Amino acid sequence: MDIEPLITASQIDAKLAEMGKQISEDYAGEELLFVGVLRGAFMVMADLARHIDLACEFDFMAVSSYGASTQTSGVVRILKDLDEEIEGRHVLIVEDIIDSGLTLNYLVKSLRVRKPASLEIAALLIKEGIQRVPIDVRYVAFNIGPEFVVGYGLDYAGKYRNLPYVGVMGGQP
Ligand code: IMP
Ligand code: MG
Repeated sequence: MDIEPLITASQIDAKLAEMGKQISEDYAGEELLFVGVLRGAFMVMADLARHIDLACEFDFMAVSSYGASTQTSGVVRILKDLDEEIEGRHVLIVEDIIDSGLTLNYLVKSLRVRKPASLEIAALLIKEGIQRVPIDVRYVAFNIGPEFVVGYGLDYAGKYRNLPYVGVMGGQP
């Protein structure tokens, strides 16, 4: 399987530095709880965190996504819930990629009922214009096309998460 580089490691780092600065300004004087969506967001969470100049904590949720397919099933299951209580806290969900938007739409709904002081989303990638539900994303590093991408936390059938860049899957299956 060929992987065509789409976004380089240094482009990612530069964008995350900008995003981290913006987040640090927007939440100045507040404490922030970052919620990473496993497994894809582990890398963006770790790198974004290094650019945050705030009192902050980190927690993770795991949700089911595509299994071994590259098509969304529309079914979202919480496999691991938060360890932290979020009532009255500023919460920022960190996600690797927004495709149909179904995963985040579901997550936002299920976290909102816990009454956080605020609830926003930061995503590394968003596939432009193909969301099946409206989704309000406060911070986005890169807008991309509809193609299936891997690397920098993103997988195909569990593989390629370790690539330091984002690439497009090509070649024959
Ligand atoms: P959504 O619910 O369709 O927005 O999809 C969200 C989840 O599907 C992401 O968190 C990823 O785990 C996975 N996903 C969507 N598009 C891609 C892709 O291009 N490459 C790898 N994973 C993807
Ligand atoms: Mg994911």
